[in-house]
Order: sequence, then C-alpha cells, then structure tokens
Amino acid sequence: MIKIEHLQKKYEGTTPLKDVSVEIHDGDVISVIGPSGTGKSTLLRCINLLEKPTAGRIWVDGEEITGRKKPALAVRRKMGMVFQSFNLFGHMTVIENIMLSPMDLLGQSKQAAYEEGMRLLRMVGLAEKAFAYPDELSGGQKQRVAIARALAMDPDIILFDEPTSALDPTMVGEVQTVIRELAKTGKTMMIVTHEMRFAKAISNRVFFMDEGGIYEDGTPEQVFEHPIKEKTRRFIQRLKVMELEIHSADYDFVGMENKIAGYCEKNRISPKVAGRVQLIFEELVQQILISRLSTPDIRVMIEYSEEKGRVTFTARYNGEPFDAILEGDTLSADILKSAVEEKEYRYLEEEECPNELKLKVKD
Ligand SMILES: Nc1ncnc2c1ncn2[C@@H]1O[C@H](COP(=O)(O)OP(=O)(O)OP(=O)(O)O)[C@@H](O)[C@H]1O
Ligand SMILES: [Mg+2]
Repeated sequence: MIKIEHLQKKYEGTTPLKDVSVEIHDGDVISVIGPSGTGKSTLLRCINLLEKPTAGRIWVDGEEITGRKKPALAVRRKMGMVFQSFNLFGHMTVIENIMLSPMDLLGQSKQAAYEEGMRLLRMVGLAEKAFAYPDELSGGQKQRVAIARALAMDPDIILFDEPTSALDPTMVGEVQTVIRELAKTGKTMMIVTHEMRFAKAISNRVFFMDEGGIYEDGTPEQVFEHPIKEKTRRFIQRLKVMELEIHSADYDFVGMENKIAGYCEKNRISPKVAGRVQLIFEELVQQILISRLSTPDIRVMIEYSEEKGRVTFTARYNGEPFDAILEGDTLSADILKSAVEEKEYRYLEEEECPNELKLKVKD
C-alpha cells in the first residue's frame, strides 16, 4: 500500500537516507530500529511529508504523494503520527484535542467527533479524563491521548517515533499495551523504538537502519535471532567489540594487554572474567601461536554482549590447519581450557587467516 522508490534525504553535511526502496503492506506492523542518527525519524518524516525528500518517489494506495504542489492535507489524513513529546494543545481539554482535526479536516459534526472521541478514549482507558487538561495528566496518559487523537482521523497508517522514550519507566507499559492492542486490530503501523523486546513482541517486520538506509529487513525472528549482517548482529546483541592485529613476533605485548584491560574496564566486565580474557590472550597468542607461526598474522576479536553478559574471544591466524587447544603445547592448552566454557574451531580455506578459534569465556 505504501511504495517507496529511491528515496533520498540530504541535509547540509549529512545524508541520512541515501537510496531507500521498500514496500509497506496493509496490516504490516514494522519496528524500526538502529543506532542514533541513522535516519529512523527522517524516514518517518519523509513518509508523511513532514520533510520534503531530496529525491525519490512515494505512493500511497497507488497514488503518488511526492512531487506535488499541495500534497500535505490529503497525506495527513491518511497518516497519523505519534511523537515522543506528545504535542497536545495545552489550552484544550483532552476531548477537544481529539475532536479538533476530525472537525477541521474531515468536516465531521461536533456530535460525531465527540462520540468517536469518547469511544477512542475508552479504548485507551482514559474516558474519565475527557474534560481534563493535558497538564493534569501523567506522561503515559498524555501519550495515550495522543494515540487516540491520531486514531480519530482513521488513518491508514500510524507512524510512531519513539513513543515511550520520553516516559518515566513506570509508564512505558501502559503505552506499549495500547500499541500492542492496536497492532492486533490489523492497523498498519511503523514504530521507531529502542525497546527490543517490545519490537520483537508486536511486529511482523523489522527494519534495521544503518549506512543510509534500511540495512536489514526481515521478520523479528530473522532480524533478532539470525541477523544476516554483522552490523545488525552487533547492534541487536549490544555487542562491544575490540579488534587487535598482530603481524610480527615482536609486537607490543604490554601495549595490547593494556588495551584489553582498558576495554574490560570500560565495559564493566567483572575482574574475574577480565582476568580470564588476559589469560587466554597470553596463553593462546603469546605462548602458542607466536612460537608456532614463523610469519604470524593473527587477528583477535573480543566481544562483550551486554544483552547476554558474555565475552567471546575469537582468534584468526594464518598457517596450516591447527587447533591451538587440541594440538597446542599442552600446559598452555590446559590453562586455556580452564578459562573457556565452549570452543569452536574451523578452517576457512579461502581466508587470509584460515584458522578460526572461537572461545566462550567462562562467567
Ligand atoms: N532538520 C535537520 N537539519 C539538519 N540535519 C538533520 C535534520 N534532521 C536530522 N538531521 C540529521 O540527519 C541524521 C539522521 O537524523 P534522524 O533524526 O533521522 O536519526 P534517528 O535515527 O532518528 O536518530 P535517533 O535514534 O537519535 O532519534 C542525523 O545526523 C541528524 O543530525
Ligand atoms: Mg529519531
């Protein structure tokens, strides 16, 4: 129902959307996730023409909404928007806020707008606040009113831009519940959110945004459990990654140990686990690999998943197939084993550093 082709949005000095082409189907509930500054808000704002795209075209139900002189009104009627900051009119009561657009833009009678407004307020659990002013409501209540207000226009799609991120944590749940109920009714929705669990629970599709566009698009199962791209995986698991490269036996051993210590400290990895990471580095790299490889090419990647609270130590190195734990100098290999919960060894024929040893560090 919404078709986007080669959408581009440039600002002075930055181009958050480079070339986005995608289709949004009726009934889709799409969570939009990704690091800050990757154009999530910009995408929503371009779809409802709050921002004018620099290039590209957008169709809604086969009708092009870009490239017109006066498109805004028709588009606004089709699309509801819910902002982080509610944007209610402070000088109007709750019910007046909701009745305003249907009367002004759809030409509804006062009575019809009132009845529909009350029905929607009941739906979001706030009928008794109809005659209150926004100031008298909590953040969660304001946001539920904002949702009712968006629904009052009976839009084809509702765009939510971080609807819960300005809320006190105790109020996030009530707003999420309303959005979840709405998703069940088959309303088409796009929701920018940083709450991964919520995204997973309500959507049938997830856009992970990065590098100027929709970097990965799939079901929650695909994107959250089996992301295709490395960057997506790092974001989802909230991975903190450190990479080290060693190209000579005379590398700066002390400097690297220091770097590892700094990395562990910065990510608040417990001293016990940090000690194991150091131990693995010393035994695997310094004791086993450096003495074995005549022209060492070793790449170390240490990953800490905030999500899982777990450290993984991956070493890639050149040379013939060699599983450093199975075949290494036995004393070092035994020490290694004591620090590791699980290991995985592979030989990747095509790679520059074909040996890959992946170690899950003991908690
Ligand atoms: N009106 C504007 N003028 C200039 N630059 C802008 C404007 N709006 C956004 N940008 C820039 O465009 C980029 C994308 O911004 P956008 O707000 O879409 O990111 P976002 O993914 O929503 O980030 P966040 O998660 O922090 O909300 C950022 O670099 C931002 O600074
Ligand atoms: Mg944003």
